[in-house]
Amino acid sequence: MIFTILLFSFHTLCAFADYYPLREYSGSEFFNGWEFYDYVDNTTWGNVLYVDQTTAMNQGLAYVTDDGHAVIRVDDQTYIPGGWDFTNRQSVRITTTDTYPFNTLVLIDLVHMPYGCSVWPSFWSFGPSAGEWPAGGEVDIIEGINLVGENQMALHSTEGCYQDRDNGGLGDTIERDCSTPEGCAVREKKANSYGQAFNEAGGGVFALQMAPSGFYIWFWSRDDVPDSISGADSKSTMDTTKDWGTPSAAYPSSGCNDTLWQYFAPQQLVLDITLCGMYLAGIPAVYGATCDDQYACVTDNIVGDGSNYAEAYFEIRWIRTYTGDKALALSSTPSPTFTLSVPTSSTRTGAPSMTTANNSKRRHHTSGFLWRNVLGILLVSFCVLLS
Ligand SMILES: *[C@@H]1O[C@H](CO)[C@@H](O)[C@H](O)[C@H]1NC(C)=O
Ligand SMILES: *[C@@H]1O[C@H](CO)[C@@H](O)[C@H](O)[C@H]1NC(C)=O
Ligand SMILES: *[C@@H]1O[C@H](CO)[C@@H](O)[C@H](O)[C@H]1NC(C)=O
Repeated sequence: MIFTILLFSFHTLCAFADYYPLREYSGSEFFNGWEFYDYVDNTTWGNVLYVDQTTAMNQGLAYVTDDGHAVIRVDDQTYIPGGWDFTNRQSVRITTTDTYPFNTLVLIDLVHMPYGCSVWPSFWSFGPSAGEWPAGGEVDIIEGINLVGENQMALHSTEGCYQDRDNGGLGDTIERDCSTPEGCAVREKKANSYGQAFNEAGGGVFALQMAPSGFYIWFWSRDDVPDSISGADSKSTMDTTKDWGTPSAAYPSSGCNDTLWQYFAPQQLVLDITLCGMYLAGIPAVYGATCDDQYACVTDNIVGDGSNYAEAYFEIRWIRTYTGDKALALSSTPSPTFTLSVPTSSTRTGAPSMTTANNSKRRHHTSGFLWRNVLGILLVSFCVLLS
């Protein structure tokens, strides 16, 4: 009896790493819960026009396949003339109506991602903010340009976050200051993380954990997706410590002057595909690195019948969001109309109060703090033994 009670309480306590499902975007319901941008690309000034939902659906730029996969794509049907008659090509950018706070886990399972010369897709998140970018913070989970072979992840924040090169992630750190235009960029080292190779391997899964200890991004090619994800359904809880292995990018909170969440407002998720533009895909040297004639991003690709955009589409099995806050998960009724009761204001009121502890208080509580740590370590060891 006592053993049962002990086991039960340890089971409850050991669930510290569990994430509870909030909602799933999938199948015929996939596009519920997203807003179509319906404007020019005024973020990266790509040569696209992001269309509204009706246009996207009517033109076959956003739809759900017979397999229940959601597709968003660049227009590959319209002839675009060169010269004075040039117009931007139609594409899709969608943003979740839900805003996800601290202590959230996001998973995306894709079977196809867009690629090709001039193509610049991204799955990312940003915190709505009245301040100038990157005031609310931005996380790039999937990003690549032209014919690059690897996915590039990044964290963008205002000045004050400097991530170490060796911070526990598997990828290559290529920029340490999160306030630079590149942000804290990490290039994936695992195979098949982007473009044609990703698609030929059957796609894969990416995960973003926004935890108290920091932000972490994982990638698994189809054959390496952990059982705890491939065997799960939309109602399963998730445990990032079980069989996920080491993340590809790790951004511990300690890498920021203040805690990481001081730099991030609750985040909305975005999927988009832009073309050329004034950054990355359209900069001659960058374009020339993987594609021919470095000055021809627009004329070689966007101008013409569009047939070279046949591969410029996301095909998504599902996106699932989770919270580490059990009470929040239980109080939410996941349905197409479900929204999180989190402020979407630009202020950081939605973020938890993770301000650094007052030093004098910290000193005062040293002994209690020590004991909690000892108990914590014992508990974690016990949990590891149990699992
Ligand atoms: C882009 O345009 C939209 C619609 O006018 C506007 O709400 C948004 O603030 C603009 N974004 C940037 C980065 O200028
Ligand atoms: C963050 O801390 C570093 C090292 O102490 C300092 O040089 C830098 O100015 C700080 N940045 C901000 C924005 O507080
Ligand atoms: C820290 O706590 C002390 C004692 O409670 C207080 O006097 C001091 O103003 C606090 N400092 C800050 C920065 O909150």
